[in-house]
Amino acid sequence: MDETKAFGPGASAAAIRAHYDVGNAFYRLWLDETMTYSAAMWRDEQDTGSLADAQRRKIAWHLHHSGADRTDAVLDVGCGWGGMLRAAAATRAEGAPRLAHGVGLTLSDAQADLARGAIAQDMPNFGSPSPRFDIRLESWVDHKPAEPYGAIVSIGAFEHFTKPEDEPAAKIAIYRDFFSRCRDWLRPDGRMTLQTIAYGDPNLDAAAIPFMRDIFPDSDLPRVRDILTATDGLFEVERLRNDRVDYARTCDIWANNLRTHRAEAVALVGAEQTRRYERYLKFSGWGFWSNHLHLLRFRLKRR
Ligand SMILES: C[S@@+](CC[C@H](N)C(=O)[O-])C[C@H]1O[C@@H](n2cnc3c(N)ncnc32)[C@H](O)[C@@H]1O
Repeated sequence: MDETKAFGPGASAAAIRAHYDVGNAFYRLWLDETMTYSAAMWRDEQDTGSLADAQRRKIAWHLHHSGADRTDAVLDVGCGWGGMLRAAAATRAEGAPRLAHGVGLTLSDAQADLARGAIAQDMPNFGSPSPRFDIRLESWVDHKPAEPYGAIVSIGAFEHFTKPEDEPAAKIAIYRDFFSRCRDWLRPDGRMTLQTIAYGDPNLDAAAIPFMRDIFPDSDLPRVRDILTATDGLFEVERLRNDRVDYARTCDIWANNLRTHRAEAVALVGAEQTRRYERYLKFSGWGFWSNHLHLLRFRLKRR
């Protein structure tokens, strides 16, 4: 992949890599053991369970609502370190076929390396015949599936699909392009789940959230109405949740983990980079607590 190339809409491969290729060892210091880099899901605000349990619950929600635990072919757009696909192979609904084919798209070399290694280690646990996994360094814009999928999941990637300078109509056109491809890639009865951060206030934009611009320079957030417009006629919105408190809690735990491992983080990535992440996690948490940012979870049925 050409690092400098803007491969289409949204953040360039170079911008994505600048963030996600900071290094697996750094992310391991403050993410949980599932290496999940998106909002977890607690039962409710009284649930005091661990971050790892809440991440597993979130993954289970996506497996169940997309149907990824019941179909043999699954696509994860923005697969990160591979946790969702590994869970799709390991956790099947009663009477469901084995997972035959799991495809993950990421733009980060470091994520792809770790995901491939973890999948290879897990393989003996997946039973026989073994699923085929394809972790691709590829944007959704370039994806050409070999066969239709029974389910698609996308968690925490949609935030990178448009740039702050895109006009509102251009943003919606990009989102619609994404959904129309996903629709074409699904079997007729297929579903997808989408999890994304969104502006909580219609008057906010990237300029009002400087810490986001600093850490994700090329990316802009959607508004809920953009997603409803972009899916109209392509998918039925079966469920929509705003779980902003889940992301507020997740950010607070990440910030606390990073504080605890500050010396190791500085040794790995330097004091300035560590400070940038500390600032971003602190302000992100504040953004979700204060209702400036929302965390949307959609269950979408192909029309
Ligand atoms: C915040 S991480 C989330 C990873 C994972 N889904 C999770 O929940 O832990 C965002 C992911 O989206 C991927 N991504 C960003 N833009 C993308 C694009 N245009 N096509 C495919 N993946 C993309 C990144 O490489 C990264 O894997």
